[in-house]
Amino acid sequence: MNDSKPAADAYQKIRLDALISYGAEYQLELYLRLSSEKFIKVSQKGDNFESILEKYKNRGVTEVYLTLADYDYFTTSVRKAIATRLTTETAEPVKPPEVSLLAGAHDVLKSLLLRENTEEDTLAVAQALTLGTLKTIRLSNILGKFADFKKKCSREFTYALMTSQVACLMIDQFNWANDAVKEKVALAAMLCDVELLPEDFDLLKDSGLAKEKLTKKVAYHPINTAQLLAKESKFFSQETLTIVEQHHEMPSGGGFPKGINYQRITQLTAVYIVAHYFVDQMFDKTYREDAHADRCRIVVEQIKNQFVSGVFRKASEALVTVFDQGKMA
Ligand SMILES: [Fe+2]
Repeated sequence: MNDSKPAADAYQKIRLDALISYGAEYQLELYLRLSSEKFIKVSQKGDNFESILEKYKNRGVTEVYLTLADYDYFTTSVRKAIATRLTTETAEPVKPPEVSLLAGAHDVLKSLLLRENTEEDTLAVAQALTLGTLKTIRLSNILGKFADFKKKCSREFTYALMTSQVACLMIDQFNWANDAVKEKVALAAMLCDVELLPEDFDLLKDSGLAKEKLTKKVAYHPINTAQLLAKESKFFSQETLTIVEQHHEMPSGGGFPKGINYQRITQLTAVYIVAHYFVDQMFDKTYREDAHADRCRIVVEQIKNQFVSGVFRKASEALVTVFDQGKMA
């Protein structure tokens, strides 16, 4: 309990929920961060790991640290268990998988992809997570429960869920809608920002999406992530790769990284960009649950007036239809 040592590089952060969902059987040394360079060990191998995890959860701790060796070991050896558990839960006919299971799987998947691990077991996690997410979207209206999801998931996963739901509702307005297309979009939503860390999301938000204010890493994350995923082109469809590569482009050509305009963007990608933009405008720091309906109306109106060219007009019209159907309350 009193072992503290420097060197932030020796530890890797992991969400406590991911360990509770999938790591209770493991024997890992757990650390808490006291300051930028100080970590304290709070469990040894051989301790009752499950009860220690519960103890820190009850104390409101959301993130803990593992040694790099334990982190690598855990995230690679847990993949099969994650895929099996999510697949079993998703097969349940009436209820979706526990959201903490999805969020934990996303956390592990992100860490694997950050290390450019696209092995078969990693892709099995991606597949199970996508199907579990689609089931969650189908069975529950998550848009109205943003605060709830944000408590249970990382910011990135919460936004991915919200964007998937809006995009799938929009896709239903087109005559080419089907489950395979929705899978491709949900997979893109889960993965398009895997290379970004919390400070990168802050930078994106503060920059107002102006390319000159972004770091190289943030400005090029769409291309870099698409290139990483393209190495597994049997698993990732061209539609998923295109969405990842173009998810920050805008109709006018004012987006990034390539600054292409609406004429070079596909209909499906335009749907994703509009859904992503909606979620971004809707759920910023000033979001309040009691003002959800009014805010939703204002953001939809803004999008209707702004996304007017070619494929974007059809996408914004689909969003307006979904809103008019009362599906975004
Ligand atoms: Fe992004």
